[in-house]
Amino acid sequence: MSFSKIAESIGASATLQLNAQAGRMRTAGLPVIHLGGGEPKSKAPESAIEAGIEMLQSGEIRYTPASGTAAMKDAIIDYTEKHYGRKVERGNVMASAGAKQAIMVALIALVDPGDEVVYPVPFWVSYPEMVRLTGGVPVAVRPADGSFQPTVEEMIAAIGPRTKVVLLNSPNNPSGKVFDRQFLEGLISHCQEAGVVVMMDDIYHRLVFDGRQPVRCYDCTDQSVDDSCLVVLNGVSKQYAMTGFRIGWAVGPQNLIKVMSNIQSHQSGNPCSLSQHAAVAAIKGAQGSVSQLRKDLENNRDELVRLLREIPGLKVDNPEGTFYCFCDFSAFDENSTRLAAFLLEKVMVVTVPGIEFGMEGFLRLSYCGDAKDVVEGLRRIKWILDADGSAELQAGDTVFTR
Ligand SMILES: Cc1ncc(COP(=O)(O)O)c(C=O)c1O
Repeated sequence: MSFSKIAESIGASATLQLNAQAGRMRTAGLPVIHLGGGEPKSKAPESAIEAGIEMLQSGEIRYTPASGTAAMKDAIIDYTEKHYGRKVERGNVMASAGAKQAIMVALIALVDPGDEVVYPVPFWVSYPEMVRLTGGVPVAVRPADGSFQPTVEEMIAAIGPRTKVVLLNSPNNPSGKVFDRQFLEGLISHCQEAGVVVMMDDIYHRLVFDGRQPVRCYDCTDQSVDDSCLVVLNGVSKQYAMTGFRIGWAVGPQNLIKVMSNIQSHQSGNPCSLSQHAAVAAIKGAQGSVSQLRKDLENNRDELVRLLREIPGLKVDNPEGTFYCFCDFSAFDENSTRLAAFLLEKVMVVTVPGIEFGMEGFLRLSYCGDAKDVVEGLRRIKWILDADGSAELQAGDTVFTR
């Protein structure tokens, strides 16, 4: 069988592959510590569970409009007003099967083969592949100073006549960096003039630490939602620990949302009706689980950073949000794929190689699991990286050897 050129240009998701490998090791009874994951361990909010049960019991699980139910759209409208300070209409919003689908559908709506999509390094692993799926050309902008946020000038220098979209993710997976207001204002204003769409992947925007407030992109423009170059992508996956429900959304100009809804209607139909009902309840219900999650993640972040800083040779940046820390391990191995494989093989700790996010020599460590996993994972990493350490390390019934 021969495959399309697009299919042949797409690699498998490295994070999903690692999760599968760790899953197989766990099933085999091995004491794997998973610092590679991308989902909070907490439970979905009570309100969402109850709404889901109620709908299931009704036995009426039907198609909905492709762009989402009226109740789902109204919940997105309320959310946008509360968290972004903008009142939008039903025509400005579309629900999808996760933020991932919303991003993909927006790219299909905007990008022709050969068009460019510009985004900063480090980037979420799916961005280059999503752009390739449209036939577009990914353009990654690497900050010259080695930091996790390019300058406005660096971004603008990468924007050319074929650029259709600038894609930003803040707080950022993998770096945990929250892009500052000056950066967003400068870039949004340039893109507005240049006719380039700015897609804001805000999936982690409520998971920020140290009393921070994420910058609200609509505060960086005085254009109306319909006239602005902004498209906001968000969802329930991370903030409500509802990854498996697969509900995300897009907010943007009505003409774009209409085209996106048409595409989605032919591509997958509607997002799951049961999940939409549960997502509405999560958005409208008590928000205590979000604050608790943020607090737990902040504690885990503090512990992880403290332990990482005890390992000589590592360069550690304090993450400002998300549940990832992107750490420079190049003093131990310049090849992050080899180092991640070594840590998995030698001490059964899952990490994600930085090369997947565009930065070689780094590893991404997640702290969305139990605090005790962070401590145990770091104990093992510290031991195996210490050339002068003991010959063996005991972990429960398992003994690791060098
Ligand atoms: C930066 C970023 N955007 C989007 C997504 C996808 O979110 P969803 O589960 O809503 O599709 C993820 C998930 O890991 C992510 O890290």
